Amino acid sequence: MKPTEIQQIPSTIAALEDYVPFARDHLPESIWAYIHSGSADDHSFRQNQQRYGSIQLYNRVLRDLSHGNTRTQLLGRSCAHPLMLAPVSYQKMAHPDGEMAVAMAAAAQETPYVLSTLASTRMEEVATCGGEQWFQLYFQTSRARTLPLIRRAEESGYRAIMVTVDSPVNGLRNALQRVGFDMPPGISAVNLKDLPDTPLVDVPEGGSQIFQGLMSKAPTWQDIDWLKRQTPLPIIIKGILHPDDARLARDHGAEGIVISNHGGRTLDTAPSPIDVLPEIRAAVGQDYLLLIDSGIRRGSDVFKALALGANAAMIGRPIMYALATAGAMGVAHVIRLLRDELEVTMALTGCATIKDIGPHCLWRPN
Ligand code: FNR
Repeated sequence: MKPTEIQQIPSTIAALEDYVPFARDHLPESIWAYIHSGSADDHSFRQNQQRYGSIQLYNRVLRDLSHGNTRTQLLGRSCAHPLMLAPVSYQKMAHPDGEMAVAMAAAAQETPYVLSTLASTRMEEVATCGGEQWFQLYFQTSRARTLPLIRRAEESGYRAIMVTVDSPVNGLRNALQRVGFDMPPGISAVNLKDLPDTPLVDVPEGGSQIFQGLMSKAPTWQDIDWLKRQTPLPIIIKGILHPDDARLARDHGAEGIVISNHGGRTLDTAPSPIDVLPEIRAAVGQDYLLLIDSGIRRGSDVFKALALGANAAMIGRPIMYALATAGAMGVAHVIRLLRDELEVTMALTGCATIKDIGPHCLWRPN
């Protein structure tokens, strides 16, 4: 028997990672593997968190910080803090309330929520939770299948389209193969129902299922241009790691990008976003919107990302760990913990506002 959802956060949960063992206890093995695992040998997954730990912060003392706050601007709007919830598919896998619980927690904590194309709740229903919501788009196998998703997102009040481009094919999710992962009954990508059919690709004999199959339908930069023409909503491209791709994203009209290795779930041994952030910031200029995710577990990680040039940071797995353990209350708690930790880090590094955070806050060995 799996333990039931907890009604009060135990005092032993003092940080985001403390949710991990609770979530593991609450979830069947195969769902745990879906949520937690990375790809192939988990090098990128493990490294994502470790890289934050290796960056060191100067403490600064005796400054007046009594006017301090975490307010910032995202896409021209004022936000309470630079934290966001990354798109995470099938949130009902973690808890029957799924996306509704996460979206409510996000709204209560004034945190932008990004709804996945692969959500297990209809986007119109999630939109009723209020707060700042963005829609994450996976290009479908044809523009005729993609367009209805964009229209529905616009009509339901989503404020931006975050288009994920780093997984035209699935990463090598060996952990899922090993547990024989199957989608649990009753959970599906409900927003993809009723889209117009597109013919399956006929892979010629001797052809590759990857190249002549999936990749022949995969999006290219031309699809970004097409997307720009379809919607007035800002476009944010998620899954960029190379400075040349960052420049291309900007030049193709994306309002911003997410520097991400998909939490180590796609290309294993891809670099950690925090390591490529400085060169990407240098490539796109000071004013371009840079979000970052993958491995953020501490308010000090958020601080380091801001110091190296990010405008805001997103978390993925911790949403699911907290949701599985304590429903909406857990998710709200995770956001609050991260925000409190960011405030503590700002106070101890002598930064009163987000604008005060910069590379000068980091110690570099000679
Ligand atoms: C994801 N991620 C993801 N990204 C995306 O663009 N669309 C999606 O549907 C999903 N689904 C998804 C499911 C699960 C279970 C996980 C863990 C992740 C990736 C996600 O948005 C984000 O990039 C990473 O989760 C960030 O890394 P951390 O915070 O999990 O280390």
